[in-house]
Amino acid sequence: MNKVTVRAIGSYHPGGKVDNAFFESRLDTSDQWIRERTGIECRYFAGKDEYTGDLCYHAAMDMKDRYGVDFSDVDMILVATMTADHVVPNVASQLQDRLGVKAAGAIDLTTACSGFCYAMTLAKGLIASGINRKVLVFGAETMSKIIDFTDRNTCILFGDAAGVVLMEHSGEENTVFESVCGTDGSMGKELYMSLRSNVANGAEISADGFVHQNGRAVYKWAVTTLAQGLQDLAAKNGLTLDDVTRFIPHSANYRMLESVFEKLGIPMEKCVESICRYGNTSAASVPLAWSEGVRNGTVKKGDTLLLLGFGAGLTYSGICVKNTL
Ligand code: UT7
Repeated sequence: MNKVTVRAIGSYHPGGKVDNAFFESRLDTSDQWIRERTGIECRYFAGKDEYTGDLCYHAAMDMKDRYGVDFSDVDMILVATMTADHVVPNVASQLQDRLGVKAAGAIDLTTACSGFCYAMTLAKGLIASGINRKVLVFGAETMSKIIDFTDRNTCILFGDAAGVVLMEHSGEENTVFESVCGTDGSMGKELYMSLRSNVANGAEISADGFVHQNGRAVYKWAVTTLAQGLQDLAAKNGLTLDDVTRFIPHSANYRMLESVFEKLGIPMEKCVESICRYGNTSAASVPLAWSEGVRNGTVKKGDTLLLLGFGAGLTYSGICVKNTL
C-alpha cells in the first residue's frame, strides 16, 4: 500500500455576507432564535452569476497562494457537492479545464454534508492502491441556489463556501488513516432536494427542487450518529478520544456539537467548527473549518484530527488524519 499525505489546503467563501437581520425582516424569525437554536451569526451567499464551480476555483487559488502547488500533474479531481452547476458536465471536469490540469479523472460525489469525508476516503484508496498519485478533493456548495426563502425551517441554516485539499502519494510518512462510513436510506425523506415526488420506500416528498429538512428527525439521528461515529473512528485508529488533538465534525448546528461533545466528555476547545460565521455549508463545512483552523493556528502541524460528516441519505463518513499543514 502506498503512503498517503495531505500536501495543501485552501478555502473560499463568496463576498455576500448575510446576517440574521436579513431573515428577521422577511420571515417570522429572530436573530435570538437563530443564535440560540443553531449558533449561526451570519453566512455568505454567492452572487447571481456565481456557482459552485467558481467557489471551487477560488478555493484552489487560495491553496496555490498559500502552498505554491502545481495543478498540472494532478491525476484525479473529486468534487463533493449537492449543488453542482450542471447535472452534466460535472464540476470536476470543468475544474480540470479551468485549473490547467493536463490529464485527470473527474468525478462529482453527491452525498451532501458527508461528501467531503467520503471523497477523502476515496482519494486515500485511489492513492494507496497505486491508481492515482495526486488527487484534488473539493467540498463545495452554493446552498443559496436551492433554498426556499419562504421556509424558515431551512433558509436560515445554510451558507455557501468551498474547501479543497491536495492529497498525494508520500515517499515518507502515511498521514491519512482509517475511515468509517454508513447510511440509513429509510430516512431519505427527512432531508432531500428532489425532482421526484417520492423516495424509494414510497414516502411522499416535494418535487420542487428546494432543499427540505425535518430538523427534529435529523437532529435526533445526527446526535447519535456523530457520537457513535467519533467513538468508532477513534477505536478503528487505535486511539482514545483523549488522544485526538482536534475534532472537525460537520458544522450543522453549534448546539448539537456542544451536546455531543459534552456527552463524550470532550472540551469544546478541541472542536474546530465553521457554523457560527458561515452557517451550514454542507460538503464545504469540514474543509472550510480545517482550512481556517490552519490559517489561524487552531489546527497545528502534527495534530491528530478526526473529521466526520453526516447528512442527506442519511449518510455519514469520517476519516482520521495527522495534520501536515
Ligand atoms: O447538515 C445536515 C444535517 N442536518 C442537521 O444535522 C440539522 C439537524 N437539526 C437541527 O439542527 C435543528 O433541528 C434545527 C436548527 C433545524 C431546528 O431547531 P429545533 O430546536 O429542532 O427546532 P424545531 O424544528 O423543533 O422547531 C421548534 C419551533 C417550531 O415551532 P412550534 O411547532 O414549537 O410552534 C418551529 O416552527 O421553532 C419553530 N421554528 C422557528 N422559529 C423561529 C422553526 N424554524 C424557526 C425559525 N425561527 N427560523
